[in-house]
Amino acid sequence: MLNIKQTKLHFASALLVGGLMGASSMSFAETLKLSHNGDTKSPVHQALKFFADEVQEKTDGDLKVRVYPNGQLGTQRESLELLQSGALDMAKSNASELESFDPAYGAFNIPYIFRDREHFYRALESEDIGQKILRSSEQYGFVGVAYFDAGSRNFYTTKPVKTPADLKGMKIRVQPSPSAIKMMELMGASPTPLPFGELYTALQQRVVDGAENNIGAVTTYRHGEVAKYYSQDEHAMIPDVLVISSKTWESLSDKNKAAVLAAGKEATAFMKTLWAEYTEEELNKATKMGVEILDVDKDAFIKAVEPMHKDAANDPVIASYVEAIKALDK
Ligand code: GCU
Repeated sequence: MLNIKQTKLHFASALLVGGLMGASSMSFAETLKLSHNGDTKSPVHQALKFFADEVQEKTDGDLKVRVYPNGQLGTQRESLELLQSGALDMAKSNASELESFDPAYGAFNIPYIFRDREHFYRALESEDIGQKILRSSEQYGFVGVAYFDAGSRNFYTTKPVKTPADLKGMKIRVQPSPSAIKMMELMGASPTPLPFGELYTALQQRVVDGAENNIGAVTTYRHGEVAKYYSQDEHAMIPDVLVISSKTWESLSDKNKAAVLAAGKEATAFMKTLWAEYTEEELNKATKMGVEILDVDKDAFIKAVEPMHKDAANDPVIASYVEAIKALDK
């Protein structure tokens, strides 16, 4: 039996050991900052939280990820610049935005390059396409970790658009990416590059007459309050991409690198299911918001962007990826 004095002593030493253990695990555990421009209600935020939990679990708490949503740490472009300098660890961007930092991502941005979601996933999972592109950017200061489904992109505008001719004279917001600008010019609209976070106000103040994105932009980001027509031309399926700073990547142990990549794969799969459910629900929500879902003359849109396929076939960086993506559709 312990007397009171001994019990106190045991308690104190337990506290001391516990405290030391806590302190030692605190000094070894590393927390990575992850920036993205999505809303906390968006599926991508859920997928990133899932990723963070998986990293923590797989490394037994040795590596943690803290997710900063809503562009708190900057726009997608700013986040990538911080990543390159090593001032930020991770960011979720998309292939369109990344094209300016690593031209290989441009392969995903050719309009109508994917026949459907199956084809899109085959390309992302292919070692010679999607997986190779993730690894292609280390020289530019970041490494790709995982892709996330971001649906198909469609026009949403303040007046109905059913053919490229309807876009004539309209100012359409695009992502700051060479392919997005080229595509819009070929379709006949005036491209206006803007960060995503500035778009609601730009629509409201009629700085632009519309934009293009997945249905979530209309509902979760409330752009449908202003733009009342959603034209299902499905011109692009541009993946979201989770990337890590090369400086952070190099500092991780092999075990933690493997955990990050494995967590990324699981988060991609988690998002695949989540996205399918989300898209169905959001189309209904858009209709309830008074947004009209329009069927369009898709062939006319496909024809308008044919020159981009010809240019891609001669592009020194993306030609081989584009050819491989097309071959996967046969
Ligand atoms: C999608 C994508 C974002 C991107 C946005 C945009 O929503 O998931 O990463 O910022 O498009 O059009 O800017």
